[in-house]
Amino acid sequence: MLHENRMYFLANQNPRQMMSFIIETADGKIIVVDGGYADDAQHLLDTLKNITGSEKPHVDAWLLTHAHSDHICALLKLVENGFDRLTIGALYYNFPSVQWLRSREPRDEGEVAGFLAARKYLLPISEIVTRGDSYRIGEAQIDVLFTYDPALTRFGINESSTVFRLTLGGQTVLFLGDLGIEAGEKLLSLYGVELKSDFVQMAHHGQNGVDKSVYQAVAPKGCLWCAPLWLWENDAGKGYDTHTFQTVIVRGWMSELRVKRHFVNKDGDHVIPLPFDFD
Ligand SMILES: [Fe+2]
Repeated sequence: MLHENRMYFLANQNPRQMMSFIIETADGKIIVVDGGYADDAQHLLDTLKNITGSEKPHVDAWLLTHAHSDHICALLKLVENGFDRLTIGALYYNFPSVQWLRSREPRDEGEVAGFLAARKYLLPISEIVTRGDSYRIGEAQIDVLFTYDPALTRFGINESSTVFRLTLGGQTVLFLGDLGIEAGEKLLSLYGVELKSDFVQMAHHGQNGVDKSVYQAVAPKGCLWCAPLWLWENDAGKGYDTHTFQTVIVRGWMSELRVKRHFVNKDGDHVIPLPFDFD
């Protein structure tokens, strides 16, 4: 029996950006956040098998931030034939309607169609979350800080990200998904300095996400960057900071905020104990 809480921050299995976390509580509960692309599904499953010691692992709670392929398609891949590879206690999310998703980004029909195909398996375990909800998963507490607002239109499906906060081992981890500036402003107006958290998952893979003022309120000690090397270095193939992404600018903000530790999934899988000793 494990007597330590751990957060596994998984590396991308192809060159693209993705987001995948597993949280293991000291009392034996398993929580997954997003999961990555379909290409990331096997690595996620293998890691769950290693953690649980089971060939058919059980996930107590699976949280989804939003309906983009780099966040939901690993789950859709794993349940394409139902629960023959793993079982899930409950799936927590709040997606806009299918019509809303299709109207915003018709080119992203693939993941919407995949979600609809898996719906017969997923609906019985779905928990549609609302801002203010709070769930207890063993020793972990999951608070829902933000769900999509149809009035926010600037950043497409990214802006529909649900914001979850994990409290475990006396520390907090804020998952911002791919939230953009507009929703970030609303989040800040709702919570202000109550956003303060020990860790933050950097919005939208660490660039073109929420504005600096949100991170100032969060005042993180640790940053979780779902970014491959090219994105971390804003490299267009011509060297450091030659692309159009804002990652280097956001890294500068975090230096100003005196963040103590950065975890970047370009470096491989990270296993982070909670509480984490930042000193
Ligand atoms: Fe993403």
